[in-house]
Amino acid sequence: MDSYDLTRTRLETYFDGTANEAWKRLMSDAPVSRIRETVRAGRDAMRAELLSHLPQDLSGRRVLDAGCGAGQAAQALAARGADVVAVDISPRLLAMAEETTPPPLARRIAYVAGDMLAPELGRFDHVVAMDSLIHYALGDAMTALAALAARTNGSMLFTVAPRTPALAVMHTVGKLFPRSDRAPAIEPVALRRFDTAVRQSLPPGWRLTSRARISRGFYISQALELAA
Ligand SMILES: C[S@@+](CC[C@H](N)C(=O)[O-])C[C@H]1O[C@@H](n2cnc3c(N)ncnc32)[C@H](O)[C@@H]1O
Repeated sequence: MDSYDLTRTRLETYFDGTANEAWKRLMSDAPVSRIRETVRAGRDAMRAELLSHLPQDLSGRRVLDAGCGAGQAAQALAARGADVVAVDISPRLLAMAEETTPPPLARRIAYVAGDMLAPELGRFDHVVAMDSLIHYALGDAMTALAALAARTNGSMLFTVAPRTPALAVMHTVGKLFPRSDRAPAIEPVALRRFDTAVRQSLPPGWRLTSRARISRGFYISQALELAA
């Protein structure tokens, strides 16, 4: 098994198994701890940030929500008129996504269980991948972005975990907890290094733009856009 497949298998065990209930709670309106409230607020702000860089009217556009989780971005995209393919490796999160989709949006979202890189998903005008590449090593994230770029006409909006002192502390603290309770490691990356890797891995037409960094308590994530 190569390192991309290994990471994906670990993530499936985590999101569909050990941490599934915690994630479903975070992705709902149910009360959560103070710490998780900051994560929820950060995630809401990041979703709004990523989606703000797409046209307001997405009618007729085909959009991939890559690693859609409980479908929060997919539903927001469909509400703006997009035809959405929402793919995730966790069937249990997908079940929640289907349950929470308002009926008028359901006909515009195809929920698919599987790998975000599956060629059968087809071609897209835009790709959104919120916090779904942050656990992959830089080389694997590049492989994923290059594969998605080959099937995308417009832009890709995604996040990385920025290499910041605050995040480094959180990761060290995280290591104090028992391994079974921990998420698969996040792969923080310096933006300059990421930019160099993009130039080496993607066709020359693709330009990387830094968007907002969202920092809310325990949630720190950097929005990036790749456009053809
Ligand atoms: C932190 S969650 C974010 C979910 C969603 N994007 C959101 O922001 O609410 C990361 C998601 O990516 C999914 N994921 C990770 N690797 C994947 C892959 N290779 N193919 C499809 N889904 C993947 C996980 O199952 C998980 O649901």
